[in-house]
Amino acid sequence: MGWLIFFPPLLFLLLLYKRSFLNRRLPPGPPGWPIVGNLFDLGTMPHRTSAGLRKKYGDILWLKIGAVNSVVILSTKAATEFFKIHDHAFLDRAVTEVMRAQDFHLSSLSLAPYGPYWRVLRRLVTVEMLVNKRIKETVSVRQKSVDQMLVWIEEEAEKKHGVGIHVARFVFLMTFNLLGNLMISRDLIEPASRDGSEFFKAMMGFIEWTSKPNLADSFPWLQWLDPQGLKKNMEKDVGNAIDIASKFVKERIKEKKVGDREGQRKDFLDLLLEFEGTGKDEPARFSERDINIFIMEIFVAGSETTSSTIEWALTELLLNPESMAKAKAEITQVLGSKTKVEENDIANLPYLQFIIKETLRLHPPIPFLVPRKARQDTEFTGYRIPKNTQALVNVWAIGRDPEVWDDPLSFKPERFSESTIDFKGQHYELIPFGAGKRMCAGLALAQRILHLVLASLLRRFDWELDQSLDRERLDMKEKIGVTMRKSEPLLAVPVKRVT
Ligand code: HEM
Repeated sequence: MGWLIFFPPLLFLLLLYKRSFLNRRLPPGPPGWPIVGNLFDLGTMPHRTSAGLRKKYGDILWLKIGAVNSVVILSTKAATEFFKIHDHAFLDRAVTEVMRAQDFHLSSLSLAPYGPYWRVLRRLVTVEMLVNKRIKETVSVRQKSVDQMLVWIEEEAEKKHGVGIHVARFVFLMTFNLLGNLMISRDLIEPASRDGSEFFKAMMGFIEWTSKPNLADSFPWLQWLDPQGLKKNMEKDVGNAIDIASKFVKERIKEKKVGDREGQRKDFLDLLLEFEGTGKDEPARFSERDINIFIMEIFVAGSETTSSTIEWALTELLLNPESMAKAKAEITQVLGSKTKVEENDIANLPYLQFIIKETLRLHPPIPFLVPRKARQDTEFTGYRIPKNTQALVNVWAIGRDPEVWDDPLSFKPERFSESTIDFKGQHYELIPFGAGKRMCAGLALAQRILHLVLASLLRRFDWELDQSLDRERLDMKEKIGVTMRKSEPLLAVPVKRVT
């Protein structure tokens, strides 16, 4: 009991700390209105509006979005401090109301609170599923999906006779199919697969409901009312998707029992079903519900992000003919008479790699990362950030930070030729995949897909803007949904190249 003598001084220090914490200021921000706070100050493009407020308020902005306390990080300097020093304090996620439908958030990797479930699933994903060695084993799956996409595009171009096609749609379908093959070894985009098309429909609904701003997120007391009916719609689509995923899972369990999977490549579903945890400080197994939800989650995390990045990359190349010519010349030189790009060509295509970095710098698909939440009262660069504040890292603003980027608004892939800056979470001026412990779990896979897809599109076709689009006045605005897409979809004409 001798330790009790430390109690009064400890209590005193604690009170002192608490008092000094409470005396600290919140970060600066626009004053806001009663009840709605800054909700209507942000408009439809909050990444742009909040970036614009940096001049007046500085690198760290305080906003009250309805009733929700929010801190927005607007500069490389502030992001460096956030991830280097405070990552641990912000490891939880701020979860939106629709994501609570069917308790999605509890089984999801990207939304699960920091704790044993998240840790064990994250380990399984990054050490078993999406680790480079395992990704290398599935090179033929990616090649097959990309080849199929090129055929779809060619067929569509023939039908359209010189009218532009919506390129991102084909990339989206390809990624969806590719992820289906990696996870459950199925072609879900097969016209003959009824379950596949029902699942696809449900996932499209999922994406739609999560894309819409929801009043219930800003005013928690409206949650019971679900004023826009978004959660109700989400309950239905997630419910349908769970039913279908559950069929796939049950079939697989049966196949495994009778030994039908022997000698086949292990996919993500096999790894999830075979997982055995210690059961002490981590789950002993994943429930069927966890598995169904994880399957859905990977489709959403991987397909929109990839297709919107390719859409922006192609748009920038069409607007910057010199970069397009350089990229094509590099591909021609490296491939010689070979018609197909293969994944192992990518290492020899540095300019292509610069294009992907430059695209992600200017057009990060998730402009505020996936929102974090303060797990405790935190002192951040001298400011007070109360527990439960949501933290939004504006990577769109950081990619354009004039303090670290020369000529930040221009598309110049060459800027990376003399630099070691990469997007793997170590260089805080370029963090489209986030950083710290909760950074993107699919980075290694995404990186391979993005380079392979863009190189293949440039190798197979010459691209032209649709006649209805004017290069000088092309709409480069964004629309925020699950990802930051082009507001006007890119319509481009693929002309088959003679190689
Ligand atoms: C262009 C492609 C992609 C981009 C730009 C991207 C970006 C991101 C970002 C910004 C986050 C949040 C990071 C943070 O909070 O610091 C994230 C999380 C995540 N991403 Fe990606 N992602 C991409 C592709 C993928 C793919 C292909 C997969 C899976 C196959 C994937 C799976 C995940 C998962 C599971 C998380 C949650 C991680 C966690 O909370 O622990 N992503 N991603």
